[in-house]
Amino acid sequence: MIRDGGTPAAIEEAAGLLAAGELVAFPTETVYGLGADAGRDDAVAKIFAAKGRPSNHPLIVHVADASAVDRFASQVPAFASRLMQAFWPGPLTLILPRREGVATAAAGGQGSVGVRCPAHPVAHALLLACAGRDSPVHGLAGPSANKFGRVSPTTAAHVQAEFGDDLLVLDGGPCRVGIESTIVDCTRGVPVLLRPGVLTRDQVEAACGERLRSPSEVDESAPRASGTLESHYAPRARVRLMDARSLQTALDVLGQEAKGIAIYSRAIVNTPSPEVIRRRMPDDAQEAARQLFAVLRDFDMQGVGLIWVETPPDEPAWEGVRDRLQRASAD
Ligand code: TXA
Ligand code: MG
Repeated sequence: MIRDGGTPAAIEEAAGLLAAGELVAFPTETVYGLGADAGRDDAVAKIFAAKGRPSNHPLIVHVADASAVDRFASQVPAFASRLMQAFWPGPLTLILPRREGVATAAAGGQGSVGVRCPAHPVAHALLLACAGRDSPVHGLAGPSANKFGRVSPTTAAHVQAEFGDDLLVLDGGPCRVGIESTIVDCTRGVPVLLRPGVLTRDQVEAACGERLRSPSEVDESAPRASGTLESHYAPRARVRLMDARSLQTALDVLGQEAKGIAIYSRAIVNTPSPEVIRRRMPDDAQEAARQLFAVLRDFDMQGVGLIWVETPPDEPAWEGVRDRLQRASAD
């Protein structure tokens, strides 16, 4: 069931369920999360089961503020502290060395733990309500609230469509950011970008005073991360990325015969077929990120078999959107 996350009664109900080891879906500024008490391995196991996600793929632990990090992390390097100060609450996840015996299932058994302080009033209210109980919950393990490999949800209705009506979903409106948080691994002495988001490289580097490395620069065996699998974030329809000219050529070749195809492009393309769905991708990268997953879901709902997307610009602001589209289009 969907409840208005802005009401104290809904927050209390959700906090009660979480304290009892149940799952609750909650809004964040990036995408909706599927939450469980990060401190309880039995509760966390329900997340892996519901998502159909391999249990060695670690989850992010959401905290109310930076002071809760020490409960989960054994050590916080100075550059990581600077990142927290600059971007929390906000769309940034830090991978830190894990405190032994804490959040073992949530961390997928890794020696590290991903921590993030979300900037959404409903998420914040929920985290505070969880922490302020007799048996407090200090962190919410929360992957994106979608089945493994699928498109992340950016509305409460998306979550309900994934998991049905038995799950309590706190409605916080459509997500402002729209793609998942930027993930920076802080366990290797230097910051490593595991997943790009809406924060640009420049912003992250300026805040932490270090160059952001890519996983291949540091170590071949980067930590297992679902979001870094080559194929991920995929709608049911097949996604293909191409430049505007190739898009137009492909439509020209099919002519009247074109059908079951959705086009998502910044350029205006033409087709004589009334059966092709066309939507304009915003020129602004942040706006494009905000809409991306809802647009992909919408195309799926309309039953197309193919989604042809114009490759986003090769510019820093577009790195997150480009990354998600590349994964959505990988076989
Ligand atoms: O914006 C977000 O980050 C959303 C919202 C709900 O906060 N959450 C999210 O969670 O995207 P999820 O589980 O769908 O993606 C988290 C990513 C995965 O790729 C996971 O493998 C990686 O973070 N991750 C988590 N802990 C890790 C760790 N200890 N080491 C390496 N990667 C980790
Ligand atoms: Mg996910």
